[in-house]
Amino acid sequence: MESLTVELGARSYPILIGDGLIRDIGAHVAPLLKRPRTMIVTDTHVAEHYLTPLGTSLAMENISFSSFVLEPGEGTKSWAGLARLTEWLIGEGVERGDHVIALGGGVIGDLVGFACSIVKRGCHFIQVPTTLLAQVDSSVGGKTAINVPAGKNLIGAFHQPTLVVIDPTTLETLPRRELGAGYAEVVKYGLIDDAGFFGWCEANGAALLAGDSEARHRAIAHSVAAKARIVAADERETQDIRALLNLGHSFGHALEAETGYSDRLLHGEAVAAGMVLAHQFSAANGLCSADDAARVRDHLASVDLPHSLASAGVNSDGATLAGHMAHDKKVRGGKLPLILTHGIGQSFVTEAYGLDAVAAFLDG
Ligand code: NAD
Ligand code: GLY
Repeated sequence: MESLTVELGARSYPILIGDGLIRDIGAHVAPLLKRPRTMIVTDTHVAEHYLTPLGTSLAMENISFSSFVLEPGEGTKSWAGLARLTEWLIGEGVERGDHVIALGGGVIGDLVGFACSIVKRGCHFIQVPTTLLAQVDSSVGGKTAINVPAGKNLIGAFHQPTLVVIDPTTLETLPRRELGAGYAEVVKYGLIDDAGFFGWCEANGAALLAGDSEARHRAIAHSVAAKARIVAADERETQDIRALLNLGHSFGHALEAETGYSDRLLHGEAVAAGMVLAHQFSAANGLCSADDAARVRDHLASVDLPHSLASAGVNSDGATLAGHMAHDKKVRGGKLPLILTHGIGQSFVTEAYGLDAVAAFLDG
């Protein structure tokens, strides 16, 4: 088992990574609990595979638990989902000192984290991520949220978990398409500030996606260490450090909006195409070489991820896409900070380019 810490002073917490950990989780949870009781929240897909092993492990430590199984999908990360969950937690007699377990992907993690930030003015929660996206990104860092009709993740809070337990073997039941979407976020860490890791992805990405457990473990450990470092440096995204994690997200957000935030384009798939567009926009503005932009496109294409507007299934004009970007929640003082790059592993935040320039580029 590998262990690292997200260093946030009194709110620091460990991240444990190990094959089969879900079956030993009770021993890691028990020391945190003020009373031998917890509540597990998950979705039906995940419950089918992992609720019993997790529950058995808790029972072995004499921890009693109840469970709440929600419908899978973004629709659960909603006012209605939040109401159901918070009312269930209150009905279960949740106390401020309790630790609720979020077992699932980013939908469950974001919803449970937000519910735990507000129920009884806040209780603790533990992340047990079961998608690659959640294992390398959403389970770490304390961003929690629900979606509302005006947009995704617009209502939420920063609320850090008390423990993150990553069992990479849970990815064996994850659909290949979801695995690919999570892999885009792995590649992102290389493109942000670690050219060596991008090279590693070029050499090992296909094996990881084919199920190579050593490659999977290495990618998760490396990504999570990068995320922990970035979150420790800029927990609330006030210093243009954590903002780098949004590489590809502004362009990707436009693609997701245009495809209706639907199964037509998963979040990670939109990020993949968005990262290519961010590199191509940088190259078009003389910031990075065309060769670097081509390298990013070629790698993502080689693992069957969207790498252009067309392969993302979008044929809208630039003004329409830039219009979606104008509604991004990262807009500040009317300007959208873009994450651009001087080359692979050399990303930076800038407000130097207006959305008219982005629209013209997208039409080109
Ligand atoms: P998800 O939670 O919807 O999971 C994807 C699908 O896989 C679901 O159908 C789920 O039931 C299923 N699933 C999960 N684990 C499984 C497993 N091991 N075996 C079989 N099926 C499994 O999607 P996601 O990609 O994990 O998360 C997306 C969400 O994460 C979005 O709402 C996004 O906004 C959010 N997000 C949050 C952050 C953050 O920092 N908080 C970062 C990135 C994304
Ligand atoms: N996934 C972006 C962040 O955690 O900041």
